[in-house]
Amino acid sequence: MALPRTLSVIGAGQMGVGIALVASLRAQIPKVLLYDRDPAQITKGLAFMDKLLQKDVSKGKISEEQAKAAKERIISVSHSSATGESGWARELGERGTDMVVEAASERLSIKENIFQALTQNLSKDAVLASNTSSISITKLAGAAVDGLGASVSRASEEGKACAGRVVGVHFFNPVPVMKLCEVIPGLQTSDATLERARAFAVACGKEVTTSKDVPGFVSNALLMPFLNEAIMCLESGTATRDDIDKTLRLGMGHPMGPLQLADFIGLDTCLAIQETLYDGTRDSKYRPSVLLGRMVDAGWLGKKSGKGFYDY
Ligand code: 3HC
Repeated sequence: MALPRTLSVIGAGQMGVGIALVASLRAQIPKVLLYDRDPAQITKGLAFMDKLLQKDVSKGKISEEQAKAAKERIISVSHSSATGESGWARELGERGTDMVVEAASERLSIKENIFQALTQNLSKDAVLASNTSSISITKLAGAAVDGLGASVSRASEEGKACAGRVVGVHFFNPVPVMKLCEVIPGLQTSDATLERARAFAVACGKEVTTSKDVPGFVSNALLMPFLNEAIMCLESGTATRDDIDKTLRLGMGHPMGPLQLADFIGLDTCLAIQETLYDGTRDSKYRPSVLLGRMVDAGWLGKKSGKGFYDY
């Protein structure tokens, strides 16, 4: 199965940077374009990548040459280098993108806008993948078709072909370390797209599982209620923060306790996923804890903001 020659990663947050890195270093995709609205985010992401590559060199996992080649394959595309509202998407198209992995914030409206811009500007063969943690792939495929304009209906041949190119590739944080990629076909994803997504994930060094397009997929439908229960334990005073985390680390062998893990993922991301699970199922077992919502209101987003259940 052919791998992309030019991959575009949209969003230079912790997930996007990790995906760009494994695509360049492991899968050796010849050109990896990394785009973010915020140029400062790209600068930060590239610096972090450098640090990871240097660590691998110093541990003898890769050579200096491999690190240099991996860096050279990554090209940043900043908002300022692209003109107009969807100039960034035009630039990704002009540079020959044949696969996209969207790794923007976990908000439906943001992702819908991105998918609409992508279908307007990319080749009609490009695979349109999302690293969403919970949002419906079928819904994103609908947004992609809408990007073709009002004259193209979702049920038309052109609409079906476009929706057929949309797929979920769900990586785990930290991407260079976690061994899994969950692949999610939407209702209309074509077999060829699914195979291209799987081949890409395997080339990035990942084991692949497949989940149906349900809220949270398999991974977060299981993980998020667990994290939420831990937050509710803290909220109700069942145990202290340290004892909740210690119980899971030492009693069950988890590498991180659930409160530490929630901080690591990002509390805003945890809340967004839990809201998607709750809204998408209307099942009370997915109701996000009040404390989680309050912490996000306060701007305590976990490790990335310097404060969450722990201080960083
Ligand atoms: N990025 C890249 N590499 C990282 C990293 C990061 N943010 N953090 C740690 N690492 C690397 C280290 O460099 C080190 O690499 P090395 O073996 O080559 O030296 C390796 O990971 C181990 O790191 P440390 O020795 O510093 O620390 P630990 O042994 O405590 O491991 C951990 C850190 C790998 C993060 C471990 O604590 C862990 O596995 N935690 C659980 C993570 C997890 O569950 N992730 C999934 C979250 S859910 C998700 O992403 C889905 C989403 O939809 C919500």
